[in-house]
Amino acid sequence: MKRAIYPGSFDPVTFGHLDMIERSAQIVDELVVAVLINSAKNPLFSVKERVSMLEEITGHISNIRITSFNGLLIDYAQEVEASIIIRGLRAVTDFEYELQIAQTNRIINSQVDTIFLTTSLEYAYLSSTIVKEVASYGGDISHFVPEQLMDRIYAKYR
Ligand code: PNS
Repeated sequence: MKRAIYPGSFDPVTFGHLDMIERSAQIVDELVVAVLINSAKNPLFSVKERVSMLEEITGHISNIRITSFNGLLIDYAQEVEASIIIRGLRAVTDFEYELQIAQTNRIINSQVDTIFLTTSLEYAYLSSTIVKEVASYGGDISHFVPEQLMDRIYAKYR
């Protein structure tokens, strides 16, 4: 049984995340999507909101579980018995930071490996930060997030 964990802030989840989730779920037996609870980033959405948005847009995927976690990712991976951490790489700029984190995690627990998937080209520019920036000015975010989440995102800026 290959179980992987796909962690992130998902504040909010984007088409880029969804693409990663769909592709990862095809590679492993079970995918645990894990929302970081204790973020220093002052998130726009509560953990509950982020989990429920993820649940709504991944209803078509059967081998997936949406959870949240506090503390170190590597400890949570062990807790849920995941042997793989999946991260997406959009561009070279992501690489240095991701490599450092992956190496740190591997020093702490060598039983868990990090696998990088390259983001689909159409979403290479996309980030939750970009979505929030555009939404904050009332711009069109339909290219960035699933339709059923759009109102919830705009509502945060009303
Ligand atoms: O979507 P993000 O913000 O790029 O996700 C970052 C995340 C949640 C994967 C990362 O911040 C994380 O794993 N945080 C938990 C604390 C941790 O384990 N840090 C890495 C070891 S120093």
